[in-house]
Amino acid sequence: MSKYLVTGGAGFIGANYVLRSLAGKHGSVIDRMVVVDALTYAGNLESLASVHNDPRFEFIKADIQDAESMEVLMAKEQPDYVVHFAAESHVDRSISGPKAFIDTNVVGTQVLLDGCRKHGIKRFLMVSTDEVYGSLGPTGYFVETSPIKPSSPYSASKAGSDLLALAYHHTYGLDVVVTRCSNNYGPLQFPEKLIPLMIINALAGEALPVYGDGMQVRDWIHVWDHNDAVQRVLEKGRAGEVYNIGCQNEQPNINIVKRILSHLEKPESLIRYVTDRPGHDRRYAIDYTKIRKELGWNPQQTFEEGLSSTIDWYLNNRDWWERVRSGAYREYYTNQYGQRLEG
Ligand code: NAD
Ligand code: TYD
Repeated sequence: MSKYLVTGGAGFIGANYVLRSLAGKHGSVIDRMVVVDALTYAGNLESLASVHNDPRFEFIKADIQDAESMEVLMAKEQPDYVVHFAAESHVDRSISGPKAFIDTNVVGTQVLLDGCRKHGIKRFLMVSTDEVYGSLGPTGYFVETSPIKPSSPYSASKAGSDLLALAYHHTYGLDVVVTRCSNNYGPLQFPEKLIPLMIINALAGEALPVYGDGMQVRDWIHVWDHNDAVQRVLEKGRAGEVYNIGCQNEQPNINIVKRILSHLEKPESLIRYVTDRPGHDRRYAIDYTKIRKELGWNPQQTFEEGLSSTIDWYLNNRDWWERVRSGAYREYYTNQYGQRLEG
């Protein structure tokens, strides 16, 4: 039996992980996959609609900070693997309100780690981020041994959870692996992040807000490549180790915005340079030699193909993002589950 508990599985990366895992795309046997998600503004159960009737799948609405609920869940499910995606994930929101980030990312992770210790799970995979390393100058790359130097409340809270997971390995011998991935794009991403926001604003003929000079650099990776790497680390990574995940695809923000406009045949006059994000990290770039050499993982999607298929996904799934924009997606849970799973 292989029983998975996936936290944050109604969010962008988690939902892609669940859908592709159950579709056999990660090549792994899944006997049971339970998703726990609090359905915050970023959690969208509609993203998982196609697997609701899969007998291996179950959805539980709960907050990972709620130790009692997590205890009931772990005692009942006795998962082999916990894949931990749940987090407050948006840097801008962390600047306007850091508390939720500490609560979910730090405290929520501690609650899960305690549950994993108690119930003797086989492995806990902590989905962390390259943002824990802080910002790079014009040259150089993050390696797994780079100093942890987070800049935003988001990245500081992720560094807290990432280091806490490693501490549970070091102190208690819990089997923990940590992945630190660069910026993801792809289907089902909440349209507050750069790429979906720009696609949707361009489609609506609205202004495209570019922070500062638009020359901040991120190493963009397709979400399916990220999740393939997560699965590889879960199955083959060494306990207590950190694995960077990246794509060797450094792009200044403004180039991405211009590519999106060009793909959609929209004018560059829609671009608006706006006040920069406070403390904005200038450049992220990932050295992923370790996962490549040790686990034989390599990204498969080029940015050209990945960005173009992502834009097409938003074009073909207007219903999904219009319901996100209007807030209607939040009714889905009640319609789908009624009172059945509440509390
Ligand atoms: P997301 O915001 O789209 O999804 C987060 C999910 O977690 C949502 O479904 C939300 O409802 C759920 N959640 C939030 N608080 C919760 C709580 N207290 N209890 C239970 N569920 C809760 O985020 P994402 O972009 O899918 O990111 C997933 C993970 O990957 C996060 O840990 C993030 O830090 C990490 N990560 C993201 C990126 C990226 O580019 N998006 C890159 C590297 C790492
Ligand atoms: P984002 O998608 O928020 O991810 P992160 O902050 O975790 O890297 O932002 C990616 C880059 O795009 C980042 O440099 C900030 C910039 N950005 C804009 O210029 N305008 C926007 O409206 C947003 C959301 C982001």
